[in-house]
Amino acid sequence: MGSVIVTGGAGYIGSHTIIELLNKSNYRIVSVDNFSNSSPLAYEKIKTVTSRPFETVDVDLCNEKELFSKLSLFTDIVGIIHFAAFKSVPDSVTNPILYYQNNNSSLQNILKFAQEKAIDNFIFSSSCSVYGNADELPVTEQTPLKRAESPYAHTKQIGEEIIGFFCEARPNFKTVVLRYFNPVGAHITGKIGEFPITKPNNLVPIITQTAVGKNALTVFGNDYDTRDGSCIRDYIHVSDVADAHVKAINFLIEGRNRKQISLFNLGTGNGVSVLEAIKSFEKVSGIKLNYKIGARRPGDVIAVYADNTLVKTELKWQAEYTLDDMMLSAWKWQQALD
Ligand code: NAD
Ligand code: WQD
Repeated sequence: MGSVIVTGGAGYIGSHTIIELLNKSNYRIVSVDNFSNSSPLAYEKIKTVTSRPFETVDVDLCNEKELFSKLSLFTDIVGIIHFAAFKSVPDSVTNPILYYQNNNSSLQNILKFAQEKAIDNFIFSSSCSVYGNADELPVTEQTPLKRAESPYAHTKQIGEEIIGFFCEARPNFKTVVLRYFNPVGAHITGKIGEFPITKPNNLVPIITQTAVGKNALTVFGNDYDTRDGSCIRDYIHVSDVADAHVKAINFLIEGRNRKQISLFNLGTGNGVSVLEAIKSFEKVSGIKLNYKIGARRPGDVIAVYADNTLVKTELKWQAEYTLDDMMLSAWKWQQALD
């Protein structure tokens, strides 16, 4: 079957994707990570969940020389799934150059490696943040990209453009670009989830930390023009995101793509408000959350959710998990961490 490289495989989405790949495919999996935002513990957890072997390589993808020397040992690579990047929006506002360097140099180096080794199947982690403050809802793949609201989002816009020009130069190269909406939750077993390396700024880990007294949830605004006044997002279970990658790599390797670049929104298509997310958590955990209503968070869009028609029809993917599943799995993982 050959090897599939998973960069950022010790991270949140990468580790859940390795689980789905090990369970649902026969590729040899090679995880490449430098643990800049993760821990080798993730690999132990993957083994606990799957009991299947996989290879690991510790390398900074920005180090071209080391990347080439360590990955050249694998001579049967059939595809690359590129997750590795820094992802914190506020952090990118404080350290823009760090984000441009890490996210875009690592992409350039892995593409150069793909070129030299003639590896023609590539999956790229993009983000709904590339749409900026979109003019239409739900967002389709044709919705025009607006100005990036953060350096992080800009690195993803640039990443997509780099891939576009790379494809023009290499007609045999095929890629799936997945624009994730809001991945949340943890593996359904509760044995692996996101490791809290830094203080979280995303809603769901803040909810679960609040439930155990490690954080204090503030709802950022309840006076928006939405059904309950709070912001609306398209939350998607991390294992559904992971499953889309298994389908995407098979889709490319089996040559089922109609275009050189297949661009898909990856969301459930359901808009969920902050207050609805909190209610779901309270229902599945049986815990009443002690949260307060605060000011709007600067830079927040009021509502964003996906039109996912394309990913459903072309990739034959659909979300399996509900909002309650997302919250329950996140809660199980929080309890496993404590
Ligand atoms: P994560 O931080 O948990 O995982 C990223 C992994 O990449 C980490 O393990 C980190 O150590 C590794 N990494 C970063 N830079 C590296 C480098 N130079 N060399 C080697 N390894 C490096 O993030 P995640 O949530 O799993 O996100 C994965 C991808 O999905 C990222 O590209 C992110 O931008 C994108 N994405 C994430 C979300 C989200 O909400 N989690 C949403 C949209 C897009
Ligand atoms: C969700 C909702 C907040 C925390 C970010 C990135 C995006 C993508 C996904 C990578 C919003 C509200 C949050 C809190 C709250 N990542 N909230 N109190 O901002 O939609 O998207 O992650 O690509 O690029 O921007 O996610 O989880 O931070 O917020 O009320 O303490 O929860 O206002 O409405 P966001 P989030």
